[in-house]
Amino acid sequence: MAKSHNSKAEVGSNPAPGNNGRFAVAILAAGKGTRLKSRYPKVLHHVGGKSLLAHVVAAATRLCPAQDVYAIIGHDAERVKEAMAGSGIGFILQKEQRGTGHALMVGEEALRNYDYVIVLSGDAPLISQQTVERLRDQHLHEGADMTLLTAVMERPYGYGRIIFRNGGREVEAIVEEKSLTASQRALQEINAGFYCFAVKALFQHIRQLGTDNKHHEYYLTDMAAILAKAGKKVIAVQADDAHEVLGCNTRQELAEVDAELRMKKCQQLMDSGVTIYQPQTCVIDSDVTVGPDTVIEPFVHLLGATRIGAECRIRSYSVIINCELGEGVLIRNGCVMDDSRIAAQAVLGPYTHLRPGCHIAEGAHMGNFVEGKKLKLGKGSKAQHLSYLGDAEVGEGVNVGAGTITCNYDGFGKYPTVIGDRAFIGSDATLVAPVKVGKGAYIGAASCITEDIPDDALAIGRGRQVNKEGWARRKREERAAAKKT
Ligand code: UD1
Ligand code: CA
Repeated sequence: MAKSHNSKAEVGSNPAPGNNGRFAVAILAAGKGTRLKSRYPKVLHHVGGKSLLAHVVAAATRLCPAQDVYAIIGHDAERVKEAMAGSGIGFILQKEQRGTGHALMVGEEALRNYDYVIVLSGDAPLISQQTVERLRDQHLHEGADMTLLTAVMERPYGYGRIIFRNGGREVEAIVEEKSLTASQRALQEINAGFYCFAVKALFQHIRQLGTDNKHHEYYLTDMAAILAKAGKKVIAVQADDAHEVLGCNTRQELAEVDAELRMKKCQQLMDSGVTIYQPQTCVIDSDVTVGPDTVIEPFVHLLGATRIGAECRIRSYSVIINCELGEGVLIRNGCVMDDSRIAAQAVLGPYTHLRPGCHIAEGAHMGNFVEGKKLKLGKGSKAQHLSYLGDAEVGEGVNVGAGTITCNYDGFGKYPTVIGDRAFIGSDATLVAPVKVGKGAYIGAASCITEDIPDDALAIGRGRQVNKEGWARRKREERAAAKKT
């Protein structure tokens, strides 16, 4: 490792050469996010289908094991903790949020056993693994005490600006927006809010932070000037892409970052062989997967953990949440599908609604205004028009006529309807659950079925038709006679 640039610098700020040292990642996530004007903590706001913090945690755990990642939480800490449960990371409670510098003061106990700490901003979810690795590697390579990530921005408003020493790359100070002089305001190289510190130097000097600023907070950014003055090495690494460091402080920034993430996601999918027409109109969450040669039409939403097979077609205005689609599935326009599985070659829509727990088998068809809930629809079965199939198990090769309703709810409990293979359900049947329709059975149109039907039987449950000869003519004649008198 390179020696410190300054002979006054204390020897041993960094671990011995050849020793890469122990790394921790600290994620600043305690702030309220006042500018969002929200009931919820800033880091739990979503972009690209995941919370801001979940994106940053994902980047952090690609750098080091989850047990060395700490989120510093404070505002609505319980909710944040709950949202991140299962991530395996540690939490540090910053009860009062007295600034980004204060956040690390609070973290001292957990962090002082490491050699280095990488500080990530919990509200900047676009950061890439490569950029943080560059920050870390440059820090190690130069034997620095503080390395900060910067970016050049056309509109630097709101960000801290970097003051370099004598035009070089060593940093003298970071100046927050509100403290900028008129000439400093024009500086375009901003502090991205990502840092790498030598732990020893950080905690040796962190108590020098003061609150003599507009917000009366301890600014972590002031560590740059403090360390530089103490003869420590403070350097800057510039991000290649300024977009990566965008923070989400306002609803507008949330929208911008969301758009950025979604476009990136579409580009990845297109690179992997998916056709997306007008990708700027589609909303695809980060964790969604789509197989090659699938075509996604404009205004489609693919959300949550949705997984779509190869050679599917998803037509416009469909919203698919946490669903798994096999190969060659056709989703026509305007379907809404939640937490369901659809096997290969099935055809749905237009306007099919799958509520959670549906399992649509290979080659099955569901048509317009057909709603399913906990529906198992067997291979090749069809329900094409205007039906409700809830808590229903439908066998293979069944035809469900238009307007069929499973009456699964009696005001107290939910009951199942079971329909055997190759059954034929006439239009407008109401099936009062619990009820079973045997294999190969027929149900006459408009029947109300309240009893089980044996295999291969015909069930008719409706009033008999009566034709009254001449009734209508007589009625007309009576009325005409009444008018004359
Ligand atoms: C900060 C930097 C600024 C930089 C910008 C980049 C400071 C003083 N300023 O400004 O130089 O250009 O990030 O996006 O650091 N937080 C805590 N505890 C606190 C206060 C904040 O954990 O007591 C967390 C917040 O939740 C947030 C992060 O720290 O995730 C940054 O705080 P924020 O208030 O957003 O700082 P900026 O004004 O964006
Ligand atoms: Ca911020």
